[in-house]
Amino acid sequence: MTFGDLLPEIVVPPPGPRSRELSAALGKLEAPGVNTLYGGEPAILWEEARGANVRDVDGNLYIDLTSGFGVAAVGHRHPRVVEAVREQSGRLLHGLGDVMAHPLRVELARRLVEIAPVDDPQVFFAISGAEAVEIALKTALGATGRPGVLAFEPSYHGLTLGALNVTSREDFRAPFAAHLHGHVRRLPFAGDLARVDETLKEGGIGAVIVEPIVGREGVLIPPDGWLSALAGLCRKHGALLIADEIFTGFGRTGRLFAVEHEGVRPDILCCGKALGGGLPIAAVIARRDLFRCWETPGEALHTATFLANPLACAAALAVLDVLQEEDLPGRAVRLGHTLGRRLSSWLGHIPAVEEIRGRGLLWGVQLRTAEMAKKWMLGAWSRGVLLLAGGPEGRVAQLVPPLTIREEQLAGAMGILEGVFSS
Ligand SMILES: Cc1ncc(COP(=O)(O)O)c(C=O)c1O
Repeated sequence: MTFGDLLPEIVVPPPGPRSRELSAALGKLEAPGVNTLYGGEPAILWEEARGANVRDVDGNLYIDLTSGFGVAAVGHRHPRVVEAVREQSGRLLHGLGDVMAHPLRVELARRLVEIAPVDDPQVFFAISGAEAVEIALKTALGATGRPGVLAFEPSYHGLTLGALNVTSREDFRAPFAAHLHGHVRRLPFAGDLARVDETLKEGGIGAVIVEPIVGREGVLIPPDGWLSALAGLCRKHGALLIADEIFTGFGRTGRLFAVEHEGVRPDILCCGKALGGGLPIAAVIARRDLFRCWETPGEALHTATFLANPLACAAALAVLDVLQEEDLPGRAVRLGHTLGRRLSSWLGHIPAVEEIRGRGLLWGVQLRTAEMAKKWMLGAWSRGVLLLAGGPEGRVAQLVPPLTIREEQLAGAMGILEGVFSS
């Protein structure tokens, strides 16, 4: 068994001495707030990762149930991704953004329009998820001329100003309220659709942005039919449906895209994270007629220096091959069933656990208090399982393993998580 397929091994209680030393250095060098989870506490620093394993700078070996914020769907450093990046790095590292493209960008655009559940689709590349959301919102305004956006609570769409405006978290938004515009309406996720109908009827709303399954804000799955009814209301009122699949896309929930569970075809779809297999790339896929708003006789109205970076495109093409060849959405379904059963039977009876929910390999365990979630998370880290607690109240522990994780690793991680509760 090699690194990537291993069970955890803790050699020194994390964060170990090297992590503490580097973490303290970073704390002095970097702006505060971006280098530890709980302001000031030392962080664990990663040295290397492969498959479902991460090794920290002190030699501790973990199973990663975060997939690095949902990025490592094909596992960390998948050999096909590494090879594609290595090969491309011998040819071209950087292109000329919107001015001069490169062949892999054409190939990736072709693949994305083939697989996306969007009618007559075209692609607009971005570097981060938040940028993809910005492009989606700009497209909606350009195509409809209506500035209003309906967003849901809870939701997470990123933290740049446009994306922040539709993200629900008040603690993220309040410090920058002066820079946020007032055209956003919010309704409860998976809530009463009559209220959506009324809100859209008022007019002025050009787009409805939704995570088909809420990811980092608590793993929330809408009831059957909610998403397709929402899509129906958008059609009825001429508002565009923006599906934010940045977390759920590329097999995470058991379908290539989560909207496919309901046969919904959004007008605009945002994706990122898993697409690059570890390299930063995101994309907006939308109907061709909507993208016509970007036609310009002059310079691109939205672009970025690193747009469709050649290394990231090479990595993304390898990711799409691996997802398809290894049928990772199907694997997410199979492993997800096992995981769900195990979570319910092992944790269902524990009083601290309020609810367990998930689909595919995206699971959330909601605890009664944020303190309990934090304790579970830190206990898991100290025994070699990486998971994150989040959601609006920090009460939902999120299990987001690579879709390639070995069954023994998943079972081993579950055993450790259960052990943390019993200790
Ligand atoms: C659903 C969703 N949208 C947007 C984003 C923002 O992506 P990024 O962090 O790449 O800007 C995230 C990140 O977690 C996300 O989960």
